[in-house]
Amino acid sequence: MIENLLNKNIKYLITGAAGFIGSYLSKRLLEKGFQVIGIDNMNDYYDVRLKESRLNALIRFEKFTFIKGDISNKEQVKQLFEEYKPQVVVNLAAQAGVRYSIENPDVYIQSNILGFHNILEACRHYPVDHLVYASSSSVYGANKKVPFEETDFVDTPVSLYAATKKSNELMAHTYSHLYKIPATGLRFFTVYGPMGRPDMAYFGFANKYFNGESIKIFNNGDFENDLYRDFTYIDDIVEGIVRLLSNPPEGEGVKHKVFNIGNNNPEKLMVFINTLEKALSNALGREVTFDKEYEPMKAGDVAATYASTKLLQEAVGFKPETSIEKGLQKFADWYVDYYNKK
Ligand SMILES: NC(=O)c1ccc[n+]([C@@H]2O[C@H](COP(=O)([O-])OP(=O)(O)OC[C@H]3O[C@@H](n4cnc5c(N)ncnc54)[C@H](O)[C@@H]3O)[C@@H](O)[C@H]2O)c1
Repeated sequence: MIENLLNKNIKYLITGAAGFIGSYLSKRLLEKGFQVIGIDNMNDYYDVRLKESRLNALIRFEKFTFIKGDISNKEQVKQLFEEYKPQVVVNLAAQAGVRYSIENPDVYIQSNILGFHNILEACRHYPVDHLVYASSSSVYGANKKVPFEETDFVDTPVSLYAATKKSNELMAHTYSHLYKIPATGLRFFTVYGPMGRPDMAYFGFANKYFNGESIKIFNNGDFENDLYRDFTYIDDIVEGIVRLLSNPPEGEGVKHKVFNIGNNNPEKLMVFINTLEKALSNALGREVTFDKEYEPMKAGDVAATYASTKLLQEAVGFKPETSIEKGLQKFADWYVDYYNKK
């Protein structure tokens, strides 16, 4: 099985290929010589030009095929599988964001539940060697026990976004049980890096700074009990996914597993912000200090995220290690260059 999945002739279907993680993963697989079929609905949840820039870096590869389409359209998904018959499917298309799910719940059901169901149905009718899908660290909700382990109780999500991701894990388990689909769920922990998502805090802070606005920090202004986040650099996420792709669950029983992919090294939010200031200062060659406003935590936010990476290490001999100094410097250098800020 593992050898089969390393064969260069196999086809990967990546949903959300114009997204942050999907575009990096697609590029990595294309560089390795694999065939990649990417689908994305190019929605305007954030600046579509960024999605187009990511796609531009992919279409120069001969083995890349892009389809503008929606995974919540069952017929479209069926046709896609019928035409390409991918051996490996990576479902990254989803409506992301915790806060947005408070105001816009419908799109989460549409893309994350209906869309994922369509992918599962397609994998049932057009069998695949491995289905890998994005879950999220948000499934851990307000859990206090750290680090978060895959075996922890995760039945008490605090946002609809988290509830859809936990639902995806349950749905994948069921389909894996019923139709023997080898499936792997990935709980990503706050992913950041160049070409990242503008709706995420670090990107928003940079935008605000260059717009001459103050940044809002939702940590109650309490530095003793600051929020902790396990920030994971994009290259580490991709490395984890690529290693897991060729390791589908095997053996007796249900072939479904869930892994954390996080840095196993939570940082205080204020340390992260100060590191971003330093990274932007280095990129610009002048001192950057954000104008900061402190506000109460927002509904759906959690106090801390902290990944155990034991399972991941046991399975593929790898754990994310990139420091925020290194990762944020790469982000800051890219940002200053891409938006012409120097
Ligand atoms: N970035 C993180 O920190 C993080 C953390 C935990 C989980 N995740 C999950 O990882 C996955 C990828 O996240 P990302 O950060 O790359 O987000 P992203 O928003 O950049 O990428 C998702 C892509 O999917 C596309 N999409 C959304 N709904 C679609 C639909 N119905 N049909 C087709 N395409 C659709 C979007 O246009 C977007 O390009 C998502 O499932 C997300 O929930 C991300």
